[in-house]
Amino acid sequence: MAYGLDQFISDCRSILSRDGGPNGREGVRVQLERLLQNPDFIREHASESTPRGLHVLYEDPDLGFQILAHINDKARVSPPHDHGESWAIYGQATHHTDMTEWEREDDAGDADHAKLKPVKKYRLTPGHAGIYQDGKIHSIDYPDYARFIRVTGTNLDRIHRVRFDLKTGEVKRMTPQQAT
Ligand SMILES: [Fe+2]
Repeated sequence: MAYGLDQFISDCRSILSRDGGPNGREGVRVQLERLLQNPDFIREHASESTPRGLHVLYEDPDLGFQILAHINDKARVSPPHDHGESWAIYGQATHHTDMTEWEREDDAGDADHAKLKPVKKYRLTPGHAGIYQDGKIHSIDYPDYARFIRVTGTNLDRIHRVRFDLKTGEVKRMTPQQAT
């Protein structure tokens, strides 16, 4: 039988209860790539017929992780941002997403300003998943109709996160669901 959402949820629960650190998350990333190979899952949750928008497919009542389907309409370049104390795994369902990881070039002593440099760039294509560990500053860039499945360590609406304006260097607090 094809690897489906229920099995993925159950695997996330067992992997993350055993190891909530970087190795456990890597295990979740590998299973997410398995899920993305399932055409029935894509048809149901990330196809032409899936309504546009952000859909919460699952939130774990004990461990707090979330599985989200981002069904995008318009192309978008996000500003560099972090996920606060959380981690995130991005799994591409259709089209592609260009991922960039950034590091601060300053000493992070100023809470309102930052100077960033890109340190890693790669493209996620359908079936592939990438991971940003806690606090990693990143940005994403995708074309019209790109769709992806994201697993986050917690509901990001509940934690403090920031985004960075590359032109002015300003650091701004993010509002709920403002960026991905
Ligand atoms: Fe993000």
